[in-house]
Amino acid sequence: MLEVVFDDDAIPQLLDRLTLEEKCSLLSGSDFWHTEPIERLDIPALMLTDGPHGVRKQSQTSEDLDVGNAMPATCFPTAAGLASTWDRDLVAEIGHALGWECRVLGVHVLLGPGVNIKRTPLCGRNFEYFSEDPLLAGELAACLVRGIEAEGIGTSVKHFAANNQETDRMRINVEVDERTLREIYLAPFERVVTTANPATLMCSYNRINGAYSSENPWLLTRVLRDEWGFDGLVMTDWGAVNDRVAGVRGGLDLEMPSSQGLNDHRVAEAVRRGDLSEDTLDRAVARVLRLVARHHQPSDGNTPDLDAHHDLACRAAAASAVLLKNDQETLPLSGLDDVVIIGELARTSRYQGAGSSRVNPTRLVSILEALRERAAVPFEPGYVLADSPTAGSDDEVLRRAAATAARGRTAVLVLGLPSADESEGYDRNHIDLPASHVRLLREVSEVAERTVVLLANGSAVATAPWQHAADAILELWLGGQGGGEGAARLLTGEVSPSGRLAETIPLRVEQLPAQLNFPGENGVVRYGEGLFIGYRGLQALGAHPSFPFGHGLTYTSFSYSDLVVEAAEVTPELPLTAPVLRVTFTVTNSGDRHGVAVPQLYLGHPTSAFTRPVRELRGFSRLGLEPGKSEPVTITVDRRTMSLWHTLSHSWQVEPGPVTVEIGESSADIRLSATATITAPSLRPPLTHWSTLREWRADPMAWPTMREALGEFGKLMDGPGEINPEAFFLLDLPACKATLMFNQPTATQLDDLVARFGA
Ligand code: BGC
Repeated sequence: MLEVVFDDDAIPQLLDRLTLEEKCSLLSGSDFWHTEPIERLDIPALMLTDGPHGVRKQSQTSEDLDVGNAMPATCFPTAAGLASTWDRDLVAEIGHALGWECRVLGVHVLLGPGVNIKRTPLCGRNFEYFSEDPLLAGELAACLVRGIEAEGIGTSVKHFAANNQETDRMRINVEVDERTLREIYLAPFERVVTTANPATLMCSYNRINGAYSSENPWLLTRVLRDEWGFDGLVMTDWGAVNDRVAGVRGGLDLEMPSSQGLNDHRVAEAVRRGDLSEDTLDRAVARVLRLVARHHQPSDGNTPDLDAHHDLACRAAAASAVLLKNDQETLPLSGLDDVVIIGELARTSRYQGAGSSRVNPTRLVSILEALRERAAVPFEPGYVLADSPTAGSDDEVLRRAAATAARGRTAVLVLGLPSADESEGYDRNHIDLPASHVRLLREVSEVAERTVVLLANGSAVATAPWQHAADAILELWLGGQGGGEGAARLLTGEVSPSGRLAETIPLRVEQLPAQLNFPGENGVVRYGEGLFIGYRGLQALGAHPSFPFGHGLTYTSFSYSDLVVEAAEVTPELPLTAPVLRVTFTVTNSGDRHGVAVPQLYLGHPTSAFTRPVRELRGFSRLGLEPGKSEPVTITVDRRTMSLWHTLSHSWQVEPGPVTVEIGESSADIRLSATATITAPSLRPPLTHWSTLREWRADPMAWPTMREALGEFGKLMDGPGEINPEAFFLLDLPACKATLMFNQPTATQLDDLVARFGA
C-alpha cells in the first residue's frame, strides 16, 4: 500500500498534473469500499467502511456487499443504546476505541454515525439512530465524531438529510416545511458539523421537497458549506446518485461505490461539452485529495487492547439500559438463588440490528452466560426464536415448561423483537412484542413470586398491553457484544441503571401525530405534523405515553433545588455561539445508594407568536452522586439553541418575551421551574397595508399615529392590553380594509403610515 506522499499544499500542483479522466475517476470508488488510487502520481486509495457502532471491514473480498462476512471488531451498543446513556464522555471514549480499531484494520473513514431523527418508532433503522430529539442526537453524535477523528480517522455523518424511514428510501420525496426541516431534521447535522467538524458527510437516498439529496445545491452547498462552514467532503450513500453531473455541480464530491466508470465518463463528457466547468470539477477533486492527504495512513501495527474494548463495551451496555419500572424495589435482585432465566433471547443474544451496520464481534457473552458466571441459574427458553436452538419447537410446550420452572421464584424474562422485525431496508408495521412473548409473560407472572422483564429491541415497543404483569422492566436496546454482561451487572446491582429514554415509548403508535403521514403514498411522504414528533407531538395533544422521553429510574432518588436563571440581552450582533441563558441549580442524591442523575433543561415559550411545542430539550447534564451528596449544576444555552427558525428572515432568531425554564427528570416529570424574560429584537413582521389593526397596535412606535387615524375606532382599541369589547371584532381587520370600508385611516394616511413604520 502506498504511504501518503502529499499534503494539502500539494493539491494545486496535483490538480495541474491530473488528466481530465484521472480527475473524474477520483470522484467515484474503485470498488465497494475504496476510493480510486492514481499510482502515477502516488495518490493512494482510501478505505471506507461501516460503521457506526463497530468496524465492519469485509474480510474476503472488497468486491461487493457481504454484510455477514467481516473481520472481528468490537461491537459497541447501537446508537439507540448510546443515546440512552446521555453520556458525552462515554460516547467520546467509544469514539476513540472505534478510531483505534479502524487504524489497526487499515480503515480510513468510518461510515457513521447516523444522526437521522426518529420521526416514528416504525423506522426499521432506528436502532442505528440516536433520538427523536435533535439536541440529544446532535450532541452525542458530535462526541462520537470527535473521539473517532482524534484518532486520525475520518467519519461520515449520515444520511444527510431527512432519511427517516426505510420504506421507498431510494425514491421517496419528503415534503417538509422550512422551519421543521431546520429545527428538527437538519439540526443534528448542523450541531455535529459546527461543533465537531467531521471529515465527511454521506448524503441520503431520498428527495427533499423534490430534489435528490445527492444533487441538491441548497442542501449541499448553501446550507452545509455557506451557512455551517463545512469544509469536508460529501459522499453519496451507496448508489444514491441520480444525475451525477448535477451532483458535482450541487456540491456532491464522491460517488460510492464504483459505477464502473459510467458516471466518471458522464462527468468528463460534461466538462468537454462545457456543461460543467473545470473549476467546479476541481473543487470536488480537491476535496477528495484533501481527504486522502488528511486521512490516509498506513495501518497501525499496535493491536488494540481488545480486552479493554470489550470491557468498555460492557460498561457502555450497562449505561445504555433504561430502567422503565421498578415496583417495590424489585431490582437490584437480592441474590440469584431463587432466580430462573426465561426467554430464548437470554441465550441467543440480540445485540445489534440487521443491514450494513452488522459487526462481527470479537466476543459475545449472552445474558445467560453472564449470569451463570455468577451463579448456576436455571434456564427455560419459553418461546420459539428463529435461528436458535428452539427453531422448530412448540411455543406452548416451551411456555408450559417455563411457567412450571417459574413457580414461586423470581422470573427474569428476556423478551424482545426477533431480528427480522428490525432492519435497514424496511420498516416495521407495528410496535408490538411477539404474541408468544406476551403470553409467556402473562403465564409466568401468574405463578412467579416476582417478574422482571428485560427487553432486547432496537426501537420502542409498546409496553402498555403487558407492563402491569411485570414488577420491573429494564430496556436493554441492542447493547452490542457487552449486552449480556451489562444486563447481569444491573440485575445484581453491581452497577446502577443510569440510562434515560432518548425516544418516547408511546401507549400505541397511533398516538403519534407523524403516523397520520407515514409512510406516504405515490412516492411522497408529507411531514404534516411539522415540529410535533415524539414528545413534542404528544404534549401538544395532551396525550400521555407509557414512558416519556427522558425517563429512566435508578436505584436511588434525587431532589432538585436553588434554581437560578440569568438571561443576557440578545442583540443583532450577538454570535450564534454566544450564551444567552445560564441556568444553575443543585442536585442532591436523596436515596441510600450511589446513582447517576441526568437533569434535563426544557424551555417553553408561553406567549409565543409562533407555533411552539410545550417544551423542548435545550440542555442536559449527567452526574454521579453518593448518597446524601449535593452538587451544583450549570447549563448554558447559546443563541442558536434558544432560537427558532424565522421563516420571514430565513435565519435563527430568539423571540423576545417570557421563557419557561424547567428542570426535569424527564420531559413529563418537571422538578424545578422559573420564568425568565428574554430581551431581543422584535420578530414582528414588517407593517404593511395588509397588517391587521392588532398588528399595528402591537407596535408601540406606530400605534399612536394609527390610533389617531382610526378616529373613534382607535379610541375603543386604546389602553395597554385593555380593549373595549366592542372593538374586539375589529382587531383582525387588515388596515387596508378599514380604509376601504370606513375611510379611517384614509388611503393617503395609510400610505404614509406604511412608509414611516413599515419594513
Ligand atoms: C447504507 C449506508 C451504508 C452504506 C454502505 C447503505 O445501504 O444506507 O448507511 O453506510 O450502505 O454499506
